[in-house]
Amino acid sequence: APIRVLVLSASLRADSLNTRLAALLARLVEGTGAVADAVRLADFPMPLYDGDVEAAEGIPPGARALCERLDACDAFVISSPEYNASVPGVLKNAVDWVSRVRPQPFKDKQALLASASPSMVGGNRGLWALRVPLEHLGTRVYPDMFSLAKAHEMLQDGQLSDPGLQDRLGETVSSFLSLVEADTRYVCLQRR
Ligand code: FNR
Repeated sequence: APIRVLVLSASLRADSLNTRLAALLARLVEGTGAVADAVRLADFPMPLYDGDVEAAEGIPPGARALCERLDACDAFVISSPEYNASVPGVLKNAVDWVSRVRPQPFKDKQALLASASPSMVGGNRGLWALRVPLEHLGTRVYPDMFSLAKAHEMLQDGQLSDPGLQDRLGETVSSFLSLVEADTRYVCLQRR
């Protein structure tokens, strides 16, 4: 069976640069023969985490739906904006809700992190901050992260206007997926 990869854009806004980068990442994933499930965090509306809401109503439907999509994938990719040099609150909130579910959907999954920003830093500090809760939850975050600076200029017609950078992104995705594939095969052998 092909590798299934959830590709999540962590921006809620309609004209998001990260949603555009996520679409490009999903296309690169499919180019390797894997199956991409491209979603936006906006597809999974959920309230702010509140222990009283959880006690009274359980996990909200939006968070449960995100968990189901995570459970259905072998690995995931997140393209997230950087807000104030860190993780956007909406993404951290989603991670916090998902972390309440057992078995833990983030545990033992491999993840590739990407960011897009109109700035020169490309949102890389936000990805370092995102590693902390994901690694805490047992996600194996791919060492190489992809941060796209000047994303409003670089993302043209569904690809990167710099061919060298476009190649590098393609190589990052295929290296990540070969690791996922090796891992999936190893797990299959163990289960025999
Ligand atoms: C930003 N932005 C931003 N950019 C950046 O590179 N570093 C940063 O620390 C921040 N901080 C920040 C905080 C807040 C509250 C907002 C609203 C924005 C700019 C951000 O990169 C830009 O709005 C992107 O376009 C957001 O990503 P999407 O929505 O286009 O995917």
